[in-house]
Amino acid sequence: MSDQQPMRVAMVGLGTVGSGVIKILFEQAERITRRAGRPIVVESVVVRDPTKVRSVNLADDLIDTSLDVIEHPDVDVVCELIGGTTTAGDIVRQALQAGKHVVTANKALLCEQGDELFQLAREQKRAIGFEAAVAGGVPIIEAVSQSLSANQITSLEGILNGTSNFILTEMLDRNVSYEDAVANAQKKGYAEADPAMDVDGTDAAQKLTLLAQLAFGTKADLKQFPRQGIDKLDLADLKYADTLGYRIKLLAVARLTGGSLELHTQPTLIRKYQPMADVDDAYNMIELEGDAVGKTWFAGMGAGQMPTASSVVSDLIDLAVGRSQKTFPLLDLWQSQKPLPILPADEIKRRYYLRFHAVDEPGTMAAVANILGENGVSIASCIQHESESSVKTSPKEPKIVPLVLMTHICSEGQMKAADRALLECSRIKKNFLRLPIRD
Ligand code: NAP
Ligand code: HSE
Repeated sequence: MSDQQPMRVAMVGLGTVGSGVIKILFEQAERITRRAGRPIVVESVVVRDPTKVRSVNLADDLIDTSLDVIEHPDVDVVCELIGGTTTAGDIVRQALQAGKHVVTANKALLCEQGDELFQLAREQKRAIGFEAAVAGGVPIIEAVSQSLSANQITSLEGILNGTSNFILTEMLDRNVSYEDAVANAQKKGYAEADPAMDVDGTDAAQKLTLLAQLAFGTKADLKQFPRQGIDKLDLADLKYADTLGYRIKLLAVARLTGGSLELHTQPTLIRKYQPMADVDDAYNMIELEGDAVGKTWFAGMGAGQMPTASSVVSDLIDLAVGRSQKTFPLLDLWQSQKPLPILPADEIKRRYYLRFHAVDEPGTMAAVANILGENGVSIASCIQHESESSVKTSPKEPKIVPLVLMTHICSEGQMKAADRALLECSRIKKNFLRLPIRD
């Protein structure tokens, strides 16, 4: 055991992640002390409801409801694990102003207020550890900011939301309904307090902005790039993709394209032979390409108690040994390059998957093909199965059949123009779906 001064931590939040952090610190105290060079001691744990039954047993005098401990002179580090941006932002600001280092798993907060909080940390000569904020237990922040620092990253693509990936796997491989899959993700502790953030693509987009800032030095606003979630997908889409040789994954992309930064977060058809297509359940994967290293893949559990706690505790160890204090300011120097312009969404070029509910009448296929052709979109393949389940709403109503098209490469701008024309077309239902393809 070390005879050095312990590093004292005030934790705020004892939910899924906070409880995991306590488990590691308490159950592996000897190992953590060895790796940190000194004991990491939990001074106090702040919660909302002190009467709640927890999955970890803590002495009553360790649990508190007052945030005063943040400024306590004995505390070296404040660990923010409550989520949200309002109180969490206040906690991080208060901690930094009081001269404490901060560890957080909160990507929503860093995406919204990161610039201000990082600046405050610089002024206070303190560090913010945020490995757990992106991809749970996968050490991707360290990879991008340290391990690959010899490279110009040229492309970064990732499955960054464990909940969405878990839901897609449940639906396709286990025949679970979308609603039950969401509930299962919540039970397993993968989902955000508001799971809408997971399924509408917000959480993955927030993580993408953090990674893009580290890898390319450009801070993007969520409004600046296409963002689509898995909440509009049907099981039928997952099955069509499967038949066509693809898996659908919520894919976040940041890449250099002609001197600009191309960004998007969308459910994407990924060819089955690619490593990313095989990432199931709450696993995340990030494919990074650097000019020296070529392609590298980082994978692991992207959500859940112990994987996320693993990253939080590693950040605490980094602070205890003084690694974060060195690398945090260096990150600034590295990022002082001129920010790249963000590629206008209309200029993004890909192939697309289109799924319609179309009126089964003469001329429908021709009408759809005409609209696409007039907008410069070329059809690569088409599926229209004669189906007994094709819906005939009433004897007077025409029969509706599903129609699936794959396009050749075209621009988002061309597709958007085609979308507008398709919305005007009485031969197809308005709720058609369009997804990008990654071959
Ligand atoms: P959670 O299970 O909902 O836990 C939140 C905890 O914060 C609870 O213990 C709650 O107290 C406490 N809390 C909330 N508001 C508070 C306040 N105003 N004052 C004091 N305590 C407060 O959340 P979580 O899943 O652990 O997530 C925490 C953070 O980690 C979020 O930023 C999330 O995005 C991030 N994260 C989560 C995962 C994951 O897999 N879950 C993975 C990566 C990152 P009570 O228990 O008394 O209600
Ligand atoms: N809700 C997030 C996810 C937690 O499912 O990926 C990890 O950030």
